[in-house]
Amino acid sequence: MSFTVAIDGPAAAGKGTISKGVAAHFGFAHLDTGLLYRAVGRRTLDGTDPIEAAHALTPDELERGDLRTAKIAQAASKVAVISEVRAALVDFQRSFARREGGAVLDGRDIGTVICPEAEVKLFVTASAEVRAERRYLELNAKGTDVTREQVLADVRERDARDAERSAAPMKPAADAVLLDTSDLSIEAALAHAIVLIENKRPATH
Ligand code: DC
Repeated sequence: MSFTVAIDGPAAAGKGTISKGVAAHFGFAHLDTGLLYRAVGRRTLDGTDPIEAAHALTPDELERGDLRTAKIAQAASKVAVISEVRAALVDFQRSFARREGGAVLDGRDIGTVICPEAEVKLFVTASAEVRAERRYLELNAKGTDVTREQVLADVRERDARDAERSAAPMKPAADAVLLDTSDLSIEAALAHAIVLIENKRPATH
């Protein structure tokens, strides 16, 4: 039986941690769809055409450890405005979503475009300042040399591009539950998400 949880929202709102926690709690498979756009973005840095890169993408490219840099995040956000790039990635995401045993997908357009029929939709958000501070602390812990101001500017630039594009812009689905993590610990947000999902699971579980 398939059961899909769609988790959308802007960068550094806590989507990744919540998605991984939900997947571990319920035994669902997890797909971080941002990695698809990051892998395409990374290829364009070598000069590859983004549409060709999207068609040629293989699942093992998502496993590369070097996709989580700020440079690749910006490249991902840029290729993500191209509707042909998005179209090339739809089938992979939809078949992942309907796999047996349940799936959690996190991204920007999962509840609106990829899985409008998802059984549960969450839109996880937080203020730009809170998200930038979290990202800054993460980068700092890894030894990356950035300032708070640079990280905030980066977060704002990506938010604007992701929300204002015409192809599948980031926005909550009409039936999504909003989860604002500005004043919540990630543990509390995860506990909230687990309760919401538990309430939507078929009674036979
Ligand atoms: O979630 P992330 O930061 O890894 O995503 C990187 C970029 O990819 C993000 O700025 C916009 C794009 N993206 C998208 O357009 N749609 C998705 N479902 C996931 C990510």
